[in-house]
Amino acid sequence: RERTYIMIKPDGVQRGLVGEIIARFERKGYKMAAMKLVKPSTEHMEEHYADLKDKKFFPGLIKYMTSGPVVAMVWVGDGVVAGGRVLLGATKPSESAPGTIRGDLCIDVGRNVCHGSDAVESAEKEIAHWFPEGVAEWTSHSESWVYEA
Ligand code: GTP
Ligand code: MG
Repeated sequence: RERTYIMIKPDGVQRGLVGEIIARFERKGYKMAAMKLVKPSTEHMEEHYADLKDKKFFPGLIKYMTSGPVVAMVWVGDGVVAGGRVLLGATKPSESAPGTIRGDLCIDVGRNVCHGSDAVESAEKEIAHWFPEGVAEWTSHSESWVYEA
């Protein structure tokens, strides 16, 4: 099945939102395949957000994202790349719907608590970047209750 890279940003960790964010992915029916708490280096984070390096907010983004530990995760499920971003909500909290993680839990685009891959291709790239050691292979007992086939 499809995989995505989800990351709880330093503000999410500092604000004690780790359990809340993980619970939303679990309740949806997605399966966790990897998770670790890491304090990323500047180089590692610059590579993760390499597409944004020309943006004026890039230096602030890297400073924010390396200011404390993040929770790096891989989640699995049909349509999980797009579906994961639905759970996260719009990038700007002022535009993210109530009921979404960002809509419910944050106010500022520069402190928007979570990251989710934006396409299947970038998801696979990000998973390789954050989990070069690989991820867990396991079968969830809920699978036949989450999927018709
Ligand atoms: P990610 O899941 O974090 O990749 O967010 P996204 O895919 O919804 O948005 P994008 O990749 O365009 O931006 C990455 C991150 O940069 C955002 O989540 C914000 O934390 C930050 N960012 C984006 N736009 C702005 C902005 O206009 N100002 C500031 N300060 N930060 C921004
Ligand atoms: Mg993005």
